[in-house]
Amino acid sequence: MLFLSTLNRNFNRLTSIVFYSWRFNKWGSFSILYKPDSLCGTKQIDIGKRVHIRKGARLEAHGENADIPTIEIGDGTSIHNYFHCGAAKSVKIGKNVLIAGRVYITDHDHVFDDKDNPPVRAGLIAHPVVINDEVWIGEGAAILKGVTIGKRAVIGTNAVVTRDVPPNAVVGGVPAKIIRFLEFKTYIF
Ligand SMILES: CC(C)(COP(=O)(O)OP(=O)(O)OC[C@H]1O[C@@H](n2cnc3c(N)ncnc32)[C@H](O)[C@@H]1OP(=O)(O)O)[C@@H](O)C(=O)NCCC(=O)NCCS
Repeated sequence: MLFLSTLNRNFNRLTSIVFYSWRFNKWGSFSILYKPDSLCGTKQIDIGKRVHIRKGARLEAHGENADIPTIEIGDGTSIHNYFHCGAAKSVKIGKNVLIAGRVYITDHDHVFDDKDNPPVRAGLIAHPVVINDEVWIGEGAAILKGVTIGKRAVIGTNAVVTRDVPPNAVVGGVPAKIIRFLEFKTYIF
């Protein structure tokens, strides 16, 4: 069983290198991208080492400066199915971040109050997003423009995060509010 899963992982690493790695600005060793839904602006996307991005991801970088990475995903970060990340300015995801399925991270809104243009033709308003190291983002959560999430914070399932989250905070709800702060324990498994 272990042999089969190692074989499968190595096969997925190989297909990631053949089909996807060369499209990105940076591609760290041992990273895996399972079949994505949509990749856009990959020359502005940096993927660290040992990053796993499961199937159905939409990674969309629309930065104005082609030389500056618009999306950065740090070493050891694991992202489950149907992740959507849209960046017009900058989305930085740290190291060893755990992102559950159907999570949405965006650094922009469409202008929706332009008298002469509907959102589909109006511009974008963008503010950088930073997800610090070791954050856990629960299933279906949305992180909106301008938000910084502190190290080791936990974002509850289906939360909509509109404001900064301090380190070690557990937040949930719409809009997300602080539920409590982590009290660290030692576990023996
Ligand atoms: C955020 C979370 C970690 C909190 O867990 P917890 O500390 O055990 O929280 P509790 O169940 O003790 O709940 C504490 C309070 O927060 C509220 N709460 C918990 N999760 C919430 C959420 N996602 N949204 C809104 N409120 C939430 C509870 O209703 C409770 O409120 P109360 O004190 O008024 O009764 C957990 O609820 C969660 O959302 N986990 C994510 C699961 C997931 O996405 N897994 C994917 C695997 S990668």
